[in-house]
Amino acid sequence: MTGRFALTRRLPPGYFAQALHDDALKGLTAEPKTLPPKWFYDGRGSELFERITELPEYYPTRAEHEILRARATEIAARTGAGTLVELGSGSSRKTRLLLDALSAHGTLRRYAALDVSAEALQEAGDALRIDYPELRIDAVVTDLDTDPFLPPSDGSPRLAAFLGGTLGNYDTEARPAFYAALRERLDEGDALLLGADLVKDPGVLVRAYDDAQGVTAEFNKNVLRVLNRELGADFDPAAFDHRAVWNAEEERIEMRLRSRRAQTVALPALNLSTGFEEGEELLTEISCKFRRGPLVAELERGGFGVRRWWTDPAGDFALLLAVPV
Ligand code: AVJ
Repeated sequence: MTGRFALTRRLPPGYFAQALHDDALKGLTAEPKTLPPKWFYDGRGSELFERITELPEYYPTRAEHEILRARATEIAARTGAGTLVELGSGSSRKTRLLLDALSAHGTLRRYAALDVSAEALQEAGDALRIDYPELRIDAVVTDLDTDPFLPPSDGSPRLAAFLGGTLGNYDTEARPAFYAALRERLDEGDALLLGADLVKDPGVLVRAYDDAQGVTAEFNKNVLRVLNRELGADFDPAAFDHRAVWNAEEERIEMRLRSRRAQTVALPALNLSTGFEEGEELLTEISCKFRRGPLVAELERGGFGVRRWWTDPAGDFALLLAVPV
């Protein structure tokens, strides 16, 4: 027996093509040039990200997993959630700890997985429905930046999980809007489980985003391949160097692609041809790192009361449980 699995596309056909088109046009004509990190995650990019999570230098996944392993039972007991909603679920690997704990607690009925990648959702769903035959799995393809969707309550509490430190992709200006959209959709009795990577030795941080095997470099350059395929661009990935830089002022890692030489790139779908100077950098991702006091304070301003704050033994990563107040 396998569980019920349904995949829903929230966005109209052509949405992602249009969004990529708009993001690329805006970002590549900006100064400095930027691209949003969501475009890393085509099939190959998702695979590369999975490989990143297994790298010796990339501690966040292991650290968060360790916290979840220690705290999942407590999270289940405190939330009594009937629905687990995961924002940006990807492979849903860590999710199993929560699904197991909520099942053991006896409250779990539904898992709603929200992601930009239909492929990742399908693959994760295929595996989960075998292992959780009693579970209703709702996979939702959406873009949380433009469609802050949460599945409606079925009367039981919902636990919204935003794991992995993906919050760090939002800068200080963008995070309040994210909290507001989430807060607006959560009711009393619901809860938020949030993973946040913490400020630490910059050397450790830089190595986590510039690994010795070059997997992160390939992941970073993958966005160029996505633009080549989707927009008919002629980026030469070998003409760019991967860079991971600690921005001490903003307390964030910045992933950049630095042009090895002066070059011109054509993007026919955008009617654009864009020049890079030698050494010019394209900002492809920010990954903000957090401190407890300021993060708790900004959540409070966003309408959330932080009830629990856990870290791994090394103090590298935090998982927090918050409630709407
Ligand atoms: C998926 C956003 C949490 O910022 O650490 C990993 C993405 N980029 N290595 C992160 C990422 C390069 C990751 N998040």
